[in-house]
Amino acid sequence: MTLPGSAVLVLLAAEDAGELLTLQRAAFVTEAQAYSNPHINPLTEPLAAVVAAIEGPAVVVFGLRGPGGRLLAAARLRLDEADDTVAHLGRLVVAPDLQGRGLGGALLSAAESVAPDGVREIRLFTGARSAANLRLYRRHGYVDAPAGTEPAALDGVVFTHLVKALGPGLCDDAAAPSRVGPGAAPATPAQSQVGPTRGGKEP
Ligand SMILES: CC(C)(COP(=O)(O)OP(=O)(O)OC[C@H]1O[C@@H](n2cnc3c(N)ncnc32)[C@H](O)[C@@H]1OP(=O)(O)O)[C@@H](O)C(=O)NCCC(=O)NCCS
Repeated sequence: MTLPGSAVLVLLAAEDAGELLTLQRAAFVTEAQAYSNPHINPLTEPLAAVVAAIEGPAVVVFGLRGPGGRLLAAARLRLDEADDTVAHLGRLVVAPDLQGRGLGGALLSAAESVAPDGVREIRLFTGARSAANLRLYRRHGYVDAPAGTEPAALDGVVFTHLVKALGPGLCDDAAAPSRVGPGAAPATPAQSQVGPTRGGKEP
């Protein structure tokens, strides 16, 4: 995986929660404006919930840090409760001043590299009117998800659900970049350009 500029993939820890929440709120303001709803979850989520997500055993919260350690972008990957071959990607955020430079695409690639072993499918959703988000996801191989049990709308925002099947080699190839997750080996120094560095705890 190639990251833009000198960005480094990191796993976020509880002590990063305040920084993450600040980035999340800044990034999601434009979505709130687009849907005329200042109460969307990413803007109302309390700090304790961000900490809980980071500390949750089935969630990988990861980010991209730039020069000086600035948190440039972040996202969460949550294992499905009923099917551990499925992971849900959410809360994709890129700092407002850095959007449109490839960091969002890098987050999508990073999600695949931090997905726990055994994950075969990543699902995500976005507002049905968020055309730029949908373009980005489709360009990265996401396709419309079959109609299912996911909520079609929340807080007045109608969602489009997308899914990407991961190739079998991605998880099974011993030569693939290391991934995080239960029982996974940490990245070796030789992999540090593509593997996540530790921002704290094991996910
Ligand atoms: C959605 C989001 C994460 C995308 O991040 P991003 O960094 O802007 O994404 P990218 O830069 O990879 O791609 C966005 C656009 O920039 C273009 N781009 C990518 N690299 C580029 C580069 N080096 N130079 C110029 N343009 C570039 C992409 O082609 C894409 O163009 P498009 O809009 O015509 O499709 C970001 O906009 C964001 O935080 N939005 C607010 C929160 C949100 O809506 N999150 C998603 C909820 S589901």
